[in-house]
Amino acid sequence: MSRWAIVDGGMTDRPLVDLEDRGYTLGDGLFETIPLYAGKPFGLERHLDRLRDGADRIHLEIPFDNETVRNSLAGLADKNSVDRGVARLTVTRGRGPRGYGTKGCDRPSWTLTLRPYEPVSERMFNAGFRLARVSINKNPSSPLSGLKTISSLEAVLTLDEARKKGADEALVLTTDGHVASGVAVNLFWLKDDTLFTPSCECGILQGVTRRIALDMARHENIQTAQGRFGPDSVSLASEVFVTNSLLEIVPVSCVDGLFDIPGPGPVTRLLKGKYKQLTISGLD
Ligand SMILES: Cc1ncc(COP(=O)(O)O)c(C=O)c1O
Repeated sequence: MSRWAIVDGGMTDRPLVDLEDRGYTLGDGLFETIPLYAGKPFGLERHLDRLRDGADRIHLEIPFDNETVRNSLAGLADKNSVDRGVARLTVTRGRGPRGYGTKGCDRPSWTLTLRPYEPVSERMFNAGFRLARVSINKNPSSPLSGLKTISSLEAVLTLDEARKKGADEALVLTTDGHVASGVAVNLFWLKDDTLFTPSCECGILQGVTRRIALDMARHENIQTAQGRFGPDSVSLASEVFVTNSLLEIVPVSCVDGLFDIPGPGPVTRLLKGKYKQLTISGLD
């Protein structure tokens, strides 16, 4: 992590966590991961919109306005001399009395940290990700479904299981057997010239990059389909790729017994190229 951070609006080179903060004790909070290109945040407004939507759902007050975050990020990038980086914005319910009750938790806390980020290499892009099937499923009716919560133990365990199988990421299914996503990525596949991705009903996080990929595909006159799809749909794909704000768009070369086609396909390459242009021209 870079030396300088923002804690509750102030810049410091000695960021400290309050041992009674509910983020630390209970995982009671949300976060966003925001990429920086040439020292500038990409998609910041969309990340903040998602954060605010999530905060509404968990009755958490967001203690800053968007301009404050934008200025704080510019200050941090400058002070830490970070050009291509990744910022993490965390908001917690702050200090609270012992136990789970939220009464008296009226001072949410927030931090902003930054670190340099090495983009996915050409070699890694060409090799593609390997996805493993895992035993942990996503429950679309969980109250945490679709939230970017800091309570990430399920993600930790799921990725651990996938990595132990020698994969880079996981193919996570819903509790009723539909394709959902990876652990920290949204999933797409091309079948019969249509780009498929699971819908929000599958309990996925509505990725900022997912939406950009869908918009770019439509702009290129590629048909898109969002819905509940079984793993058999992936097995008929000609291309599979994953998205997130850091990885951008990464081809998948293998999905555990369902898909095995090495090398990025033409649609994956096209969208990756368009995405790269967007990161230069800007989004917001
Ligand atoms: C579960 C999950 N799905 C999808 C994504 C991708 O979201 P985004 O494109 O906003 O980075 C993430 C990002 O961390 C994630 O944790």
